[in-house]
Amino acid sequence: MNSTDVVLFLRIIQNVLDDSGEVAETMQYDLKGRVIIITGADSGVGKATAIHLARLGGTVILACCSTARGLQALDEVRCAAESSRVEMMLVDISFQYSIRQFVADFKRRYEHLHVLIHIAASFDPTQKKPILTPDGLETVFATNHLGPFLMTYLLLDTLKDSAPSQVITTASNGLISDPSLDIEFDNLYGERKFNAQHAYYHSRHAQVMFTFDLAERLRGTGISVHCVCLGHVAIPDERLAHLPRWAQSMYRVKSKFSISLEKMAETYAWLAADPVAQHQTGGYWDAPGHAARANENA
Ligand SMILES: NC(=O)c1ccc[n+]([C@@H]2O[C@H](COP(=O)([O-])OP(=O)(O)OC[C@H]3O[C@@H](n4cnc5c(N)ncnc54)[C@H](OP(=O)(O)O)[C@@H]3O)[C@@H](O)[C@H]2O)c1
Repeated sequence: MNSTDVVLFLRIIQNVLDDSGEVAETMQYDLKGRVIIITGADSGVGKATAIHLARLGGTVILACCSTARGLQALDEVRCAAESSRVEMMLVDISFQYSIRQFVADFKRRYEHLHVLIHIAASFDPTQKKPILTPDGLETVFATNHLGPFLMTYLLLDTLKDSAPSQVITTASNGLISDPSLDIEFDNLYGERKFNAQHAYYHSRHAQVMFTFDLAERLRGTGISVHCVCLGHVAIPDERLAHLPRWAQSMYRVKSKFSISLEKMAETYAWLAADPVAQHQTGGYWDAPGHAARANENA
């Protein structure tokens, strides 16, 4: 075991010990009147975050890629949160035309946006070669970084008009396994080398850098910007179905040592609702009030 493995192992143990599920009960924020967009809200952490924020009274827009999965999530979130202030809107975050359509549609329907949460992501460990989007971009980088960048940029005017407001992005604590990672400007299409895990971490690293940069650019505007550093989160079985058996077994074992979706959703809820988080900017958090360490090059 090298030192990175030891750090990862200790973090997993910490997550398991921390996973008491008690914080959710004590989160007493009131998000009534706050309009919140969550991408990737039909599954995993995105859906758990949507339930959490809708329970706190927020008006939650589930930004989803698939109509069927989005509508099913809409039912589940409304029912679990006992709230009718939940809506589903379609967007393919890897495709720039779709993002522009989503934003135009959102602005027609809503005057304000208080919290924009980017959780949607592409990661398929079985992918062997780069796949290009209709815009000619590498899909992992387009979905996990360029799409969130464009959506944020197109919504900045509404976020400014709605201040105090927030942008919350997502990264991964797996980034610590590659501390010297930097942006590969000569490999943005996976043209020099490609493997799924590297492409994923590369796009996540870009999101962390984007968060820190945007926080500085928006200082004084009333928009705070934070990134959530996700640990190992329990992945629902239906998300594993397409993987080879060995990978399914590996993820199932990993799930036993994972933080629950509900627990992870608390960090997004804390950032979206707590005045302490709202008065800071440029933070990188792995739990409510707990700062994570970003890679050196970020
Ligand atoms: N799970 C972990 O252990 C872990 C660890 C570190 C970081 N993370 C990050 O944490 C976040 C949540 O993880 P999770 O395990 O909860 O994810 P998940 O269940 O796999 O959900 C990913 C979501 O992203 C959506 N999505 C994918 N491509 C999209 C596109 N082109 N346009 C719009 N939506 C798209 C998916 O929609 P469909 O349902 O339509 O596919 C799904 O709702 C992700 O950003 C992930 O990278 C996860």
